[in-house]
Amino acid sequence: DFAPDTHRALYGRHIVVSAGPTREPIDPVRYIANRSSGQQGFAIAGALAALGARVTLVAGPVSLETPAGVERIDVETAREMAAAVDDALPADAAVMVAAVADWRAEAAAEHKIKKTGDAPPTLALTENPDILARVSAAGPRRPALVVGFAAETDNVLEHARAKLAKKGCDWIVANDVSGDVMGGTENAVHLVTADGVESWDRMPKGAVATRLAERIATALG
Ligand code: CTP
Ligand code: CA
Repeated sequence: DFAPDTHRALYGRHIVVSAGPTREPIDPVRYIANRSSGQQGFAIAGALAALGARVTLVAGPVSLETPAGVERIDVETAREMAAAVDDALPADAAVMVAAVADWRAEAAAEHKIKKTGDAPPTLALTENPDILARVSAAGPRRPALVVGFAAETDNVLEHARAKLAKKGCDWIVANDVSGDVMGGTENAVHLVTADGVESWDRMPKGAVATRLAERIATALG
């Protein structure tokens, strides 16, 4: 039966999800990246689609299968991710799970940087656009619900509350990455909203995704 599954809670909704790391070139053979596997973001995209949402998943370089029913757009750099997220709007919700590189090389070299026998090269960095902050400040194009993630190793809740305020998003899913969470299969998160903090037990990333998708469905009504 291929009739639209209109009883699913997110049927008719469009949700943009960012996931994975970004990769910032230094020269044609080198880049700056991070340890994000993309698992949590992909699981969230899949869980939202399973509830009937139309999901646009903007993904940095990861080795993961696209979840069923999800439209995936592959990008490499933070600037490409920012443009792809912007192109994906309007949306009812945005869930920015990507571990966006905070900095990129000021100017990527066109040719491979060679050892010269002198001192090592100095890498000048410049800050990348803050995609979450931009989506949160998108005016009439702002999704009704904007969710960010915060990966922290210390003072998790304090940093999460500060990020909620600084970025102008509605929720922060605060992630304690002091252990083996990054690249691992489980996650211990706190949902930080204007109403307060809800701490969830450590659970598989798939279970975090399902629970978050259900919360998003409730919030969107
Ligand atoms: N984020 C983003 N664009 C960036 C940096 C972060 O969209 N250039 C988003 C992430 O996807 C995440 C949230 O912002 O949803 C928080 O990311 P995080 O790295 O924890 O916060 P930062 O503001 O970069 O602060 P810091 O890394 O210094 O803790
Ligand atoms: Ca960061």
